[in-house]
Amino acid sequence: NLHVGVIGATGAVGVELINVMFDRNFPVGELTLFASERSAGKTVETKYGTKTVTLFSVEDAKKCDIVFLAVSGDFAKEYAPQIAEGALVIDNSSAFRLNDDVPLIVPEINGDLAKKAKLIANPNCTTAIAAVALWPLHQAFGLKKVFVSTYQAASGAGQPGMNELREGLASGLKGEEIKAEVFAHPLAFNVIPHIDTFQDNGYTREEMKVTWETRKIFGAPDLPVSCTAVRIPTERTHSESIVVETEKAVTPQEARDVLAKAKGVKLVDNPEKLEYPMPINATRQYDVEVGRIRTNLIFGDHGLELFVAGDQLLKGAALNAVQIAEASIA
Ligand code: HSE
Repeated sequence: NLHVGVIGATGAVGVELINVMFDRNFPVGELTLFASERSAGKTVETKYGTKTVTLFSVEDAKKCDIVFLAVSGDFAKEYAPQIAEGALVIDNSSAFRLNDDVPLIVPEINGDLAKKAKLIANPNCTTAIAAVALWPLHQAFGLKKVFVSTYQAASGAGQPGMNELREGLASGLKGEEIKAEVFAHPLAFNVIPHIDTFQDNGYTREEMKVTWETRKIFGAPDLPVSCTAVRIPTERTHSESIVVETEKAVTPQEARDVLAKAKGVKLVDNPEKLEYPMPINATRQYDVEVGRIRTNLIFGDHGLELFVAGDQLLKGAALNAVQIAEASIA
């Protein structure tokens, strides 16, 4: 059994990480929860019971077998390489995702890379969720172009984002002013086409992460991927509308047959029964729902439209991280 450390254990991703390890019987012998001075001494309710969070120190973290980082990129940049001298580090931030010597892993796709690494990057949530649906299609039909439009939940901004949404909904219903401290604008009763910072090319960093990270995970450095990332007032599941152009001709039924067998995917595609992917069903589920599969009108038999919904805190973060840990010891 392993000594597991979690840094950022009081955050939304940290709590999910602990609970996913419990639910999946990850071989945890000892669990140490680390936090900054601000949170040290606090308790956190987990499926292992109530745990006290201890003050982070590099030396203590190094003594673990596996350390999950669910904190900012700045913290990861400073401490992850030092902790990785002693422990396997699985980092949820974007700090190392594009480094050549750091594998970026979605276990359904490239889990084999987890075996030798000391520092592993967990992908951006939107990217991981789309990748689970796109990889089997890429293998079967060859992706030539990918267009993604996202509908991202408040949880992408952590517990403060979820709190701001709930408070905003309550304030709005009472006719009070809706605060916007976490998001650039009030999220309740709104849709915000802006996540993370704007880049020189007019895309946001969140949008470019989908391009950069999909290419790295797929080992397809030139794959054209373009994304529009939008925050919507749902709590914790990201949805995405995806258009692909394919190398090989593909029918919707062929795509469904491939996706029905794919790991990490739940095919939900019966429009006549009003069944399609939705956050209300995908929340707290491990699988990414995929549906609304149809021939794209512009690319014809070399193109598909699909809609996906995946829990941002699970496949988009904590579940993927735990699956990486599982792959590392498999
Ligand atoms: N950046 C994502 C979001 C979450 O804001 O939804 C983490 O990948």
